Amino acid sequence: MSKPPKIVFVCQSCGYQAPKWLGRCPDCSSWNSFAEERPALKTGRHPELFLEQPQALQDISLDPQIRIKTGILEFDRILGGGIVPGSLVLIGGDPGIGKSTLVLQVAARFALQGLKALYFSGEESAQQLKLRSERLEIQSDQLFVLCGTCLEHLLEKLEGMSPRLLIVDSIQTVYTETLPSAPGNVGQIREVTLRLLTWAKKSGVPTFLIGHVTKDGAIAGPKVLEHLVDTVLYFEGERLQSFRILRAVKNRFGATNEIGVFEMLGSGLQEVNNPSRLFLEERPEASSGSVVLPCLEGSRPLLVELQALVGQSPFGIPRRTAIGVDANRVSLLVAVLGKRMGMEMGGQDIFVNVAGGLRVDEPAADLAIVAAMISSYTDRPVARRMAIFGEIGLAGEIRGVNQPELRLKEAQKLGFTKCILPKSNLAGLGPGVEMELVGVDKVKGLLEVLF
Ligand code: TYD
Ligand code: MG
Repeated sequence: MSKPPKIVFVCQSCGYQAPKWLGRCPDCSSWNSFAEERPALKTGRHPELFLEQPQALQDISLDPQIRIKTGILEFDRILGGGIVPGSLVLIGGDPGIGKSTLVLQVAARFALQGLKALYFSGEESAQQLKLRSERLEIQSDQLFVLCGTCLEHLLEKLEGMSPRLLIVDSIQTVYTETLPSAPGNVGQIREVTLRLLTWAKKSGVPTFLIGHVTKDGAIAGPKVLEHLVDTVLYFEGERLQSFRILRAVKNRFGATNEIGVFEMLGSGLQEVNNPSRLFLEERPEASSGSVVLPCLEGSRPLLVELQALVGQSPFGIPRRTAIGVDANRVSLLVAVLGKRMGMEMGGQDIFVNVAGGLRVDEPAADLAIVAAMISSYTDRPVARRMAIFGEIGLAGEIRGVNQPELRLKEAQKLGFTKCILPKSNLAGLGPGVEMELVGVDKVKGLLEVLF
């Protein structure tokens, strides 16, 4: 008598395996995440190698012109200067944010250069894709679509047509026949991604995978998915209305934390080349609590408006709310203000916000946060054409930050004439910075130069 096939239960959020169903995953602590999975029907392992024979590293030649440019500058920059052949790129984002639109536009740019692109869709029919392409005014005989969900069919068709770009929309809808579980299952996602990885590396064709996100905003599926691919991009928006931010959270071929800004128009996504202007557009005139910070997103300087509202709390316990900056950081700065400047805000409600829905995670924002709080507390506006950046330590010292020159030049470009910055950053500034620079080394000194 043959033994019945072994069944395992797999956590759908981290891939942990257990012999029986569990209510809570012992590995990642998520609740109700276990699903039954049966082992592979055939051996799903792939003996293929990307490189058939071991080769000396120094014998491997590199073509300097190797990256393929799409011509969408924001997109090329995010990827580190173009698309690397054979790279596997995962794009995640909320439903309706514009993932399919973005990749279709990228595919169209490929096709325009005479490079054959294949769009494999498991979510939309050919008619739907055609409708979207009409909207985007795409006309090309090099852009092909294939609708389906079976990986084996896709791989078979790829043999025959050898495209120069592959798009899979979305990875959660694709399944492989070697596993009996349903599409979207952790085992399926992992297996399909691995097979596509092998294919991309062997053929040298860049491959874009679209991934769904869970309600907490992470790409649905095991974390290993993000480990497998070369690049992970998140497409974010909603709070910015028609504006969308594409963010690189992992990139083997470029800087992470790089962002690209797009605007969703009736005719598709349009790149925004000067986002600083966009984020400062609606800045109020002569109002207290508003400070402009030149921050860095990846390699790009970006001016954002930091706002603070400080007011006497009507309740016993004052409220502290921080949107777009770290709340702990704000508490720390409030403590430093009290201790080092004698500016006691213990009984005040404090709200800090980054206008435009952006997130700033840099310590370089400290000085601007403090300046905004002081400005609101004393109800005195800071000069309109002044920018502020710098890190604050617990002793009240102001520390230098990286790339001061890049920040200053961006501020200068947008018409700022004065900047308060860490004293230590003054040394080593190259020529070309024509703003009035005020270096400070203690928070105590900030009051004298702020107003
Ligand atoms: P879509 O790319 O289908 O989103 P996703 O694949 O991330 O789910 O984009 C859908 C939204 O974008 C939809 O609400 C309509 C809007 N849209 C435009 O505003 N302009 C356009 O040109 C296109 C194609 C879509
Ligand atoms: Mg879509």
